[in-house]
Amino acid sequence: MIIANWKSNIVDINQWTHDFHDEYIVNERLQSTIFGVAPPSLYIEKMRRMEQSHFAFDDGELGCQEVLCGVQDVDHSYGSRTGAISVDMVIDTGCNFAIIGHSERRDLFNEDNDLIKEKLKSLKNKVMAVLCIGETKEENDKGITKDVLKQQLDIVKEVELDQSFTVAYEPVWAIGSGLTPQPKDINEIHKYIKDVVQSNSANKLIPRVLYGGSVTDKNAESFFMEEFVDGALVGGASLDGKTFANIVNIYNSTK
Ligand code: 13P
Repeated sequence: MIIANWKSNIVDINQWTHDFHDEYIVNERLQSTIFGVAPPSLYIEKMRRMEQSHFAFDDGELGCQEVLCGVQDVDHSYGSRTGAISVDMVIDTGCNFAIIGHSERRDLFNEDNDLIKEKLKSLKNKVMAVLCIGETKEENDKGITKDVLKQQLDIVKEVELDQSFTVAYEPVWAIGSGLTPQPKDINEIHKYIKDVVQSNSANKLIPRVLYGGSVTDKNAESFFMEEFVDGALVGGASLDGKTFANIVNIYNSTK
């Protein structure tokens, strides 16, 4: 699974879709690769319209598949909450996934684990959750990465998780910095995340785990070669349709 997180950037969706389509290599493996875009919420409708004209034109017969559309965050409640986007609104607009717990939300919007747990529960397994976790540079230097991740994963304790539940391991120090952990270290952390979720969730689910943090079409292969890396959550490199398509192509040819 490869997900584009456009964050608060304006993207020319028309151009992006054309560029993606030009670069994207269609093959039979394609059917099994899920990929999606989380545009700023204001552009979801536009994104879905572009998707429909570019990707759903052949009923899937020729190997074209739907591009999932998702939100970058979701509110845990609904009603009189100015500016918030509820889970029912996500479902109503036909979105398929919601990113929750992104480090930018934790840091800039003071979201804590309790709130993120409420968000996870409010998704009610109706919308695919992509839960972001990751350690800061300081925590990494102190060698407490696994402790930090375990604490962030506390929110799955006794929660019955849907099969689609996805964790994105995004070291805070790797986001937008051009720095990344070594692929073998990412692999070890991903195995750890799968073990922690499996032993804590009510239904012993083994989640899909994506890597995020300075993923580009130059380094993606080195991550996708690793056994426990199930895809990527891509920020900056996803703003260009061709580059994002290349990352999806690399995933298709590696996994
Ligand atoms: P970059 O790919 O720009 O480092 O961002 C990663 C990220 O935060 C995706 O959610």
